[in-house]
Amino acid sequence: MSFRILPASRTKNVRYAIRDIVVQAKRLEAEGQELVFLNIGDPIQEDFETPRHIIDAICDALRTGHTSYCDSAGVSEAREAIRRDAERRGIPSIQEVFATAGVSEGIELALCALVEPGDDFLTPSPGYPLYTALAAKLGTRRNEYRLDEQNGWQPDVEDMERQVTPRTRALVLINPNNPTGSVYTVETVDRVVDVARRHGLVIFADEVYDKFLLDGGAHIPVATRAGNHPVLTFGGLSKNYLGPGLRMGWMTVSGANDALGDYLEALGRLVRARLCANHPIQYAIRPALEGPQDHFEEMLVRLRKRRDLIFARLNAIDGVSCVKPLGAFYAFPRLHDWAGTDAEFVTELMREEGVVCVPGSAFGQRAGTSHFRIVFLPKEDVLEEALDRIERFLARRSRTP
Ligand SMILES: Cc1ncc(COP(=O)(O)O)c(C=O)c1O
Repeated sequence: MSFRILPASRTKNVRYAIRDIVVQAKRLEAEGQELVFLNIGDPIQEDFETPRHIIDAICDALRTGHTSYCDSAGVSEAREAIRRDAERRGIPSIQEVFATAGVSEGIELALCALVEPGDDFLTPSPGYPLYTALAAKLGTRRNEYRLDEQNGWQPDVEDMERQVTPRTRALVLINPNNPTGSVYTVETVDRVVDVARRHGLVIFADEVYDKFLLDGGAHIPVATRAGNHPVLTFGGLSKNYLGPGLRMGWMTVSGANDALGDYLEALGRLVRARLCANHPIQYAIRPALEGPQDHFEEMLVRLRKRRDLIFARLNAIDGVSCVKPLGAFYAFPRLHDWAGTDAEFVTELMREEGVVCVPGSAFGQRAGTSHFRIVFLPKEDVLEEALDRIERFLARRSRTP
């Protein structure tokens, strides 16, 4: 009897273009094409290294027997360090801290404990595609609010409010934003909090890039502006502490205890059902948050140079414009004279010039516009080469005016 396993229908709409594109790229590499990868935000694949004291802390934890299961919420040394860090940054009314396997697991647990099928939550467009994949998985809807390209990709708060429905449960704010590199002003953050308050929405503050401010200034954690309103703030070792493969993140739950009580209990049940996050890696959290911080300065100097390079080069290409990224390590340039779709642009650029980027539609973009995302972590010579190729490709392939 022939036997074919039918996958669950909930997987049908799960996409993650940042990695899906790699499947096509590997095929081209196997055929001998030499590729430049600008698709994945992994600093370790470039000239950045996990700080030594973080690696040492993990090695020590492994050597001293921390390979058992641990407390489901996380080991107390790590959770206390996360709480102290949040308090130092001015987050009030912290009710709970959970260590998770990357920010990704925290976001999934938090959504899973909150939304019913048929509920919805607000996400930015453009925004990080994990939220799209999770909505598909959980059978919920995602209402996109616009980031305004004409306004440095700040959230369009009027549009955000228009997207609220009677079934809206949460509002996701990604600050600094992936894929645009925008950093939100205190005025924007306050207006967002006001929307959440008036409509009774839990705020999901995805602040995984909060230390990546390329032009100085202060990052405004949403929770510091929200008073007693419930906020889940997500952070981790992946980006700030240059350890994406460590798969270590956390969520800090703040706000009024009476509003959060039932939700925290539900979250606790989900957290216990998956036993615990990676035990030995949790011993890297305190040294990361409270040990030497000198990697930031060097890292930001390099990134600023690379940002300046791609910003100047992209805007010098006919038919391309790019808002200056102020945070993270992504740029989201717009194509003005490309006749096809953004997906065709990415595929054909990869096939003809070997540059791997991600199409704008993977993150969301305004109807009638075409963008692509570039990661500017690679060294200057790699970026120059990639931009030469993009320029050559567009000179050859753009629609002639
Ligand atoms: C905005 C945003 N949130 C969350 C994540 C996932 O973080 P982690 O690697 O800690 O799961 C990423 C990863 O790129 C991201 O860009």
